[in-house]
Amino acid sequence: MAVAVAGLGYWGPNLARNFDELGALVALCELDPALRERYAARYPQARMYGDFDELLADDGVDAVVIATPVPTHYALARSALAAGRHVLVEKPPAMRSGEIDELVATAAERDLVLMPGHLLLYHPGVRKLKSLIDSGDLGEVLCVYGNRQNLGIVRTNENALWSLGVHDLSVILYLLDEEPDACVAHGRDFLTEGVEDVVFCYLRFPSGKIAHMHLSWLDPHKMRKITVVGREKMVVFDDMELDRKVTVYEKAPWKRTDSYGEWQTRSGDISIPKIPTDEPLKLECQEFLRLVAGEGDRTKVAEDGARVVRALDRLTESLRER
Ligand SMILES: NC(=O)c1ccc[n+]([C@@H]2O[C@H](COP(=O)([O-])OP(=O)(O)OC[C@H]3O[C@@H](n4cnc5c(N)ncnc54)[C@H](O)[C@@H]3O)[C@@H](O)[C@H]2O)c1
Repeated sequence: MAVAVAGLGYWGPNLARNFDELGALVALCELDPALRERYAARYPQARMYGDFDELLADDGVDAVVIATPVPTHYALARSALAAGRHVLVEKPPAMRSGEIDELVATAAERDLVLMPGHLLLYHPGVRKLKSLIDSGDLGEVLCVYGNRQNLGIVRTNENALWSLGVHDLSVILYLLDEEPDACVAHGRDFLTEGVEDVVFCYLRFPSGKIAHMHLSWLDPHKMRKITVVGREKMVVFDDMELDRKVTVYEKAPWKRTDSYGEWQTRSGDISIPKIPTDEPLKLECQEFLRLVAGEGDRTKVAEDGARVVRALDRLTESLRER
């Protein structure tokens, strides 16, 4: 498997390192000459390009990883698919529903992988949440909410929904495996005109489940948390914790037979399952190689990415209406 990484700013080098460790890195592409020089020295076996079209003309490349700024993702992914390359594109793969639908259709037509870089979906803690939900352990899931707050980093070109929300949205849609039928967002641009620093989102799903996201870089708490409320148990994934990433609470409402149908609550054990410490990015890169090799469901991975972009697009529309 021959993989090229395009974009060697902050995040791309992490992808290059992982694909190198997996023995798949054959080429790199970066506009900045100083970065080209730095990474050419680190990966002497990889062919180095300063132009994306030149990279696509390299017949020795099977798959392209795109780690360039968000507004460039759609056009670069489209060119790579048109050139017959499998694509792993950083999140979000596009900024409009129409764009992602087009990418998904092209990938399907050409039987190519189009995988979005939703890192959290490969986090063993998030995988644990998913298995607790799918096994029925939590009972019927009623609602899910995400908290992604901190003081800073203050962004001035993308708002809290696009910068922070894409992570939680990818997890919420993965956990519930449904597309929302209502997407409402409220927010305010306190620091930079037109760039919302604080965003609250509400999602409702056809099954009746609901979800919420609090996204902010104007907050005293550093929180990266997802809470799932089931009828039987409740579970929290807390990415700020080192050794209790997932906590399961045996807390639930119930009706005592002798209480004339009144709702009571019960609290049982609180448990902390062991979560493997595997690097999520390595798992993501391995999954991409697996899909390129023809294993797994490449259609599902592309469609999951599209679901996230469609919801982001609808939340943005709702934010603008207000
Ligand atoms: N999964 C995660 O946790 C995570 C974390 C950080 C960033 N990201 C994503 O990674 C992507 C890059 O973010 P970043 O912080 O590294 O940005 P960055 O600005 O630091 O780096 C982007 C690099 O891409 C290069 N570039 C731009 N256009 C190019 C082109 N056509 N061909 C080749 N190189 C090109 C730029 O010169 C720059 O060096 C974004 O999509 C971001 O959302 C993901």
